[in-house]
Amino acid sequence: MPIRSEKKTFYITTPIYYPSDNLHIGHAYCSTAADSMARFKKLTGYDTYFLTGTDEHGQKIEKKAQSRGMTPKAYVDEIVAGIKQLWKLMDIDYDDFIRTTDERHVEGVQKIFKRLYDQGDIYKAEYEGWYCTPCESFWTELQLKEGKCPDCGRPVEKTQEESYFFRLNKYAPWLIQYIEEHPEFIQPASRANEMINNFLKPGLQDLCVSRTSVKWGIPVTFDPKHTVYVWIDALSNYITALGYDTEHDELYRKYWPADVHLVGKEIVRFHTIIWPILLHALDLPLPRQVFGHGWLVIDGKKMGKSVGNVVDPVVLCERYSSDAVRYFLMREMPFGNDGEFTLKAMLTRINADLANDLGNLVSRTVAMIEKYDGGLLPAVGAVEDVDRALWKLAEETPARVEAEMNAFQFSNALQEIWKLVGECNRYIDVTQPWVLGRSEEGRPRLNTVLYTLAECVRRVAVMVSFVMPRTPERIFAQLGLEDAELKTWDSVCRPFGALSAGLKVCKGEALFPRLDIQKEIDRDAAPEEPKQVREAPKADRKKDAKADKKQEETCPAEIDIETFERCRIQVARVVACEKVEKSSKLLKFTLSLGRDGERTVVSGIQKYYDPAALVGRQVAVITNLKTARLAGIESQGMILSALDDAGNLRLVTVEEGVADGAVIG
Ligand code: MSP
Repeated sequence: MPIRSEKKTFYITTPIYYPSDNLHIGHAYCSTAADSMARFKKLTGYDTYFLTGTDEHGQKIEKKAQSRGMTPKAYVDEIVAGIKQLWKLMDIDYDDFIRTTDERHVEGVQKIFKRLYDQGDIYKAEYEGWYCTPCESFWTELQLKEGKCPDCGRPVEKTQEESYFFRLNKYAPWLIQYIEEHPEFIQPASRANEMINNFLKPGLQDLCVSRTSVKWGIPVTFDPKHTVYVWIDALSNYITALGYDTEHDELYRKYWPADVHLVGKEIVRFHTIIWPILLHALDLPLPRQVFGHGWLVIDGKKMGKSVGNVVDPVVLCERYSSDAVRYFLMREMPFGNDGEFTLKAMLTRINADLANDLGNLVSRTVAMIEKYDGGLLPAVGAVEDVDRALWKLAEETPARVEAEMNAFQFSNALQEIWKLVGECNRYIDVTQPWVLGRSEEGRPRLNTVLYTLAECVRRVAVMVSFVMPRTPERIFAQLGLEDAELKTWDSVCRPFGALSAGLKVCKGEALFPRLDIQKEIDRDAAPEEPKQVREAPKADRKKDAKADKKQEETCPAEIDIETFERCRIQVARVVACEKVEKSSKLLKFTLSLGRDGERTVVSGIQKYYDPAALVGRQVAVITNLKTARLAGIESQGMILSALDDAGNLRLVTVEEGVADGAVIG
């Protein structure tokens, strides 16, 4: 039994998110993992600190705000409020939310920059190279892949300006040695090899760490026409949030170095090269671990707004509950690997694991105690091997869960808990309480079976709480359990049998109602219907009337502004346009969204336009519409159009002077 006399600390962070748009379920994946781990550590006796926040400076945000006609600060304030609401909805229970526009952070970064400059680790020179704005990364000519960003494949910009540089090169040998001597520093281990072989061994170049062309950033105190490069700004959040180098550095002294930075695999590079070198140059200890998790992908492509395949976590949580969404995210794929996101997989998982396995176990247990014992939990009666085997499994499960969690294997940890759930359901089938309940002779065995089930249910409720924070109380209520001590992790590490006989159970509603998967999939597809109405309108009046009726059915008379804002409409320029082979209706467009890159959209307007005449024109496109396959081509959005009086389709466009990629709203 793990009794802890002194509280160990545990400091965990998520990356700080770009508030460049609404967050999607891929972002929520990282926060759910961090939150689940933080809850687990708290549960198992650690003094835990969980930090998240937003990364608000840089060219990307500056341009986005500009396109919306807002100041960057007003723009980020609005989005950050939405992010905080999302975390509330998903029960992401952080201890601190740092914004890089917070004064405490700005001052901290300025001090760090100045100190590195004063000690000679930062120097001034001329930068000439390439910059990828979406990734906020500098690249050399050689690093580009076919002239594009090697990370995201989007166009890069030639950049030449006076800049400050950070001496990464000087520290490269030290870092290689450090990584080799600390195999736990970068996890999974394959990512460490990638860093060493792809970035460190080929040689590090000094890093450009200031910009004169970007105004929306933290000014360099001793040369204010420069702003600090966003990644230096962003990475520092992990210590500025703790009050590093201020009068109030209690948190820093208590929690640094971090136990783990959880980050997506594409930003492992920044966290395991720039960040450790920066800390080492400042003579500060390094985080114990950087864990690079995989991505949520759709049809093999990273979910992201540039691809236009994002899934909204708000919709999922509202429909299926945040506990169910969190469970799916943590259970479905091994942490570290990419995982395909499909609604069907999520619904199937909810039905199988939550509605069937867990939900049925709880409802059967409570219903049987009500039926056979008038709702009062009986004491253990006659005991047999079958009971002892289940008690043993229940006693062993917490340690197995802990071992998996210590290795960040959320999915395996949940599988361990579900092994117990599965064994409980099998135990009911084997012991057949309904047969035992038929006669007085069966009583002693029946009592043991019902007690065993209730105690196992209690243990399961405690153990799932780090992933599903709302479900345990609903289970405890059904068990009639109020004693706070029996809801602790320590209580499930003790020998089987902590529940007191005599508890009054109370059957409640189903924990997770069974979902009609097809109905849910159809419901999810429903918003796409107007697309057919708008994309292939029929000139003939009869068909028009039908389309109008459909439009009425799918468009309510009134919607609120939030509903409208969930639809992203952008200005795009037609880069290429051609007829789709063997189709008399479809045109295939290559559209440029400026900084947001290019995408393919298929539209049913061949009858109304000569494709060549459309090249160079600006159109309005819904860019966050779910990808659709038309004539075998993946269409990433919908071009807006309207019918003229003669029944011809006319493209919606904007007046002159609007940049490609500008958001319409
Ligand atoms: N602002 C930087 C991080 C700075 S940390 C000092 C950034 N922000 S981000 O908003 O683009 O991404 C935040 C996190 O979300 C990253 O860890 C990223 O990997 C993660 N994800 C974004 N899309 C994702 C998926 N489709 N799947 C899983 N995680 C995803 O990078």
